[in-house]
Amino acid sequence: MSEPANSLIDLGFVDPVDRRASGVIKWNRYPDRVIPAWVAEHDFGPPPAVVERLRELVDVRAFGYHSAGDDVGPAFSRWAAQRHGWTPDPGLILPTANVLQGIWACVEALTEPGDGIMYTPPVYPPFQDVPPTTDRRAVHWPLVLTETGWHYDFDALSELLEADPGISLLLLCHPHNPTGRVLTAGELARIVELAHEHDLTIVSDEIHSDLVYEGSTHVPMLTVPGAASRTVAVTSGVKTFALGGMSCSVAVCGNDRLRSALRSIPAELLGAPNRMGCEASITAWETGSEWADDLLAVLDRNRRHLFDRIRTDLPEVTMFLPESTFVAWLDLSAFDTGDHPARWLRHMTGVACGNGPNFGPAAENHVRITFGTSAELLDEIADRIITGLKG
Ligand SMILES: Cc1ncc(COP(=O)(O)O)c(C=O)c1O
Repeated sequence: MSEPANSLIDLGFVDPVDRRASGVIKWNRYPDRVIPAWVAEHDFGPPPAVVERLRELVDVRAFGYHSAGDDVGPAFSRWAAQRHGWTPDPGLILPTANVLQGIWACVEALTEPGDGIMYTPPVYPPFQDVPPTTDRRAVHWPLVLTETGWHYDFDALSELLEADPGISLLLLCHPHNPTGRVLTAGELARIVELAHEHDLTIVSDEIHSDLVYEGSTHVPMLTVPGAASRTVAVTSGVKTFALGGMSCSVAVCGNDRLRSALRSIPAELLGAPNRMGCEASITAWETGSEWADDLLAVLDRNRRHLFDRIRTDLPEVTMFLPESTFVAWLDLSAFDTGDHPARWLRHMTGVACGNGPNFGPAAENHVRITFGTSAELLDEIADRIITGLKG
């Protein structure tokens, strides 16, 4: 992977005063003395071209009704082709306000009350809200921990599906937040095979898919043979380009049947993406490839640096090198963290992380740490954690 280009060296710079002034929640939830590493949002984005485009739109007061959503699918398709060798048919791409909206829409349109919705704890906390808020049942297919890290257990998946014919949807986090695990082509093929055997719809959340490091490859679920007839992929430029507040995502349907099912939800109920979000995402996808390469190089250095510092200076904490994402999953079981490990860690170190138990069962004593920040701040985060927990 190449070093960041000099013209983009600012990519590695973060000014906490500027970040707090921006009003983003990551930098404003806790007092200034706390370093925020809790939200899965990096501190660098978006690329300058996105800011310029938004400025142009503000200058001409482009705030009226719009049709920018029409251009989102084609722009995403070109990005996916460039980055992942996958060219989804723009006609099968529905713009949504955000990825979670796409997930909830799939559950409403493609399953029935009482159906089992399967997901993979420990996992991005809102996934646990899907079943109780839609009158569906939660079915856990937990990742298992071995000496080499977190893994999917395909025998367990097969047994779960065999035992419960009412499971109708598998919600994948691909790549996986918080462990950074990337499913291989062979693993995805096995999932598709089981989906056919058990009449399962797959919703593949690929929001972290641009952030996969050398050694692993993101295989879009919709490129797996046989997947299209039962898969909707939901994703956006939010993680890559730090556009979390901009409200623009896509739901990529594998075929017309799935598209029509999602379309059956009235547009007035589903909602729509925001003009600024559409323009920001389109500009990022049209122009941001080199910037994304540089971002990945910065994040790659960060993940290795955090991993090395913890392994060398604080071996009591277990961290596996994530294959993707800019988050790491830290096991603090060597300490008496109580039932809220993130609060305990914040008090001990002045670093705010995501609270493990929010990620589902078997996540006690864990925290999720975001390393998408400057080298300087990351070192301060590491210093604080090492000194705070050693002391
Ligand atoms: C796996 C995953 N899905 C979805 C989201 C949120 O996406 P959105 O804000 O577009 O709903 C996140 C944000 O952290 C995430 O990690």
